[in-house]
Amino acid sequence: MKRIVVITGAGISAESGLQTFRDSGGLWEGHNVYDVATPEAWSRNPDMVQDFYNERRKSVLEAKPNAAHYALVRLEEKYDVTIITQNIDDLHERAGSSRIIHLHGLITKSQSDRNPNLTYDISGSELKMGEQCELGSQLRPHVVWFGEAVPMIEKAATECHFADIFIVIGTSLKVYPAAGLIDLVPAKAKKILVDPRAMEISAKNIEMIPENAATAVPELVKRLLNQ
Ligand code: APR
Repeated sequence: MKRIVVITGAGISAESGLQTFRDSGGLWEGHNVYDVATPEAWSRNPDMVQDFYNERRKSVLEAKPNAAHYALVRLEEKYDVTIITQNIDDLHERAGSSRIIHLHGLITKSQSDRNPNLTYDISGSELKMGEQCELGSQLRPHVVWFGEAVPMIEKAATECHFADIFIVIGTSLKVYPAAGLIDLVPAKAKKILVDPRAMEISAKNIEMIPENAATAVPELVKRLLNQ
């Protein structure tokens, strides 16, 4: 079975109503990401960080997977598919994809402030100050903040090394190490990029599809299933 590796970013969830980062002038619900998505922000003002993610978690729970998420599930009928996502929403999970690597964490989970390997499901949209892990430490969102290690990057890199087809959907490829994954894909692999701004993104030997994901991805999947 041929292996397809898909890397997705905020753009695939845009048509599910979730804001992208750079299309909103780099503000996240009006916040500068560096004021809410860094370990410094968490130690400076944990209540604000907790509130920020509670707001975002609420929007994620209200959002639904769109046609692009569901089309990627259909790819599994004929291919060995791995989704590598920079998104912290759970829309790929809810659409039914089987193998998902979250590079930047998952907003529906919390993690111990003392040991990031201790993670817990969050029921509902609120994670409160005072909620503790089994070690008695405060629970924080299970999200990789700027400046923190990206534990899943090795696993993602290995997948890219063996890709026969590599599909990039809805990411500006601005944030490393995620953005560097495309360089690990074998030269002989077929590369495809879906993004309305595709023509502005410089990348070599890659098929550009300058359209929205919810329109273009179902078409692309149909083509790949009929190959
Ligand atoms: N369909 C496909 N692509 C879209 C759509 C759409 N409907 N709408 C916007 N896009 C594209 C934009 O043109 C842009 O290239 O999605 C991309 C979104 O890029 P960013 O906002 O930079 O989001 P992303 O690449 O996921 O950001 C990476 O940066 O802020 C950090 O940790 C955060 O994971 C995030 C990382």
